[in-house]
Amino acid sequence: MLCLLPRASALALSMLFAFMPPANASDPAAVARGKYLYTAAGCGSCHGGSGHDSAPSGGLGLDTPFGLFRVPNITPDRANGIGTWSLGDFHRAMRDGIDREGRYLYPVFPYPSFSRMTDTDIADLYAYLMSLPPAAIANKPHEAKPPFGWRDLLVVWRALYFTPGPLAPDRSQDDAWNRGNYLVHAVSHCEECHTPRNALGALRADRAFSGNIGGPAGENAPNITPNRATGIGDWSLDDIETLLKTGMTPDSDFVGSGMRAVVRGTSQLTDADRHAIAVYLKSVTPIRVDVKPSQPGG
Ligand code: HEC
Ligand code: HEC
Repeated sequence: MLCLLPRASALALSMLFAFMPPANASDPAAVARGKYLYTAAGCGSCHGGSGHDSAPSGGLGLDTPFGLFRVPNITPDRANGIGTWSLGDFHRAMRDGIDREGRYLYPVFPYPSFSRMTDTDIADLYAYLMSLPPAAIANKPHEAKPPFGWRDLLVVWRALYFTPGPLAPDRSQDDAWNRGNYLVHAVSHCEECHTPRNALGALRADRAFSGNIGGPAGENAPNITPNRATGIGDWSLDDIETLLKTGMTPDSDFVGSGMRAVVRGTSQLTDADRHAIAVYLKSVTPIRVDVKPSQPGG
């Protein structure tokens, strides 16, 4: 009889651990901050399974010049999602673009931007994800074009174009500018669509925010530098904030394609954060681009 006791208590203990959420997933303040970042970063527009606001169970196919990439399940499901990932594993994916098994992640996952986030923001995102219900939906394989199916090749890309690490604040600028810089680069990754890429898919820093013709999924993202003739130089701070809040441009048009999903996120930010994004955007180098991206669908 006695010898049954240790086994029973071991079982009870393992059951306790199985149902115990990871340490900070039970911190409601961290979960709430993580949810805000998740929205601002538009994680759901790629990872949301059946819709932007549903559980991030993945499945969406992203068509790129390098092949079709399937977005994975990042719910805490242990078999299909990231339920077995520690905060350290998650931190490495966000900061370094390396998964739990040590494999290089494709930069279709905008980790070159997320790498700029602070440790606290990454931990808060983790707390939020771990608080979600797990979804038992299996990942689908990527259909990368040869030779891009070979992840090890990313070592070259990384050496050329990727420097991990959080964004350093610029002490010569005010708080709104610094917050805007952080949101634009680290969180909402505006450059991932609005900056043109070179033949290897890396962002061209010298042409930052000047528009990308034929972006991901065939989208054309316009020039959003303050160039008056070809960018948004004649938009006021208020015009930019209105667009981020409602999707409406100064000529009362509504943005479409990829920007609609971005606005679903930015519409839920605080006014101060939308203002910060506008302040930063007004400060970037104006670039004249004479070829205008054609209208979506046109
Ligand atoms: C533009 C689409 C896109 C956005 C936005 C995006 N992801 Fe992803 N994510 C992907 C793709 C595609 C992969 C798969 C990369 C690969 O297989 O190498 C991925 C992979 C991941 C992984 C690794 C999962 C695994 O099983 O290896 C994590 C964790 C992750 N994303 C979290 C996030 C978080 C958190 C956000 C928001 C802050 C986010 N992603 C935003 C497309 C996206
Ligand atoms: C997923 C890709 C994507 C991301 C990320 C993205 N944009 Fe856009 N953006 C677009 C596309 C595509 C359009 C054009 C929409 C249209 O023509 O209806 C656009 C349009 C705009 C416009 C309107 C420009 C004009 O001339 O009408 C502004 C301003 C803008 N984006 C700002 C931003 C800011 C700020 C961010 C980051 C918070 C951002 N975008 C992130 C794809 C993106």
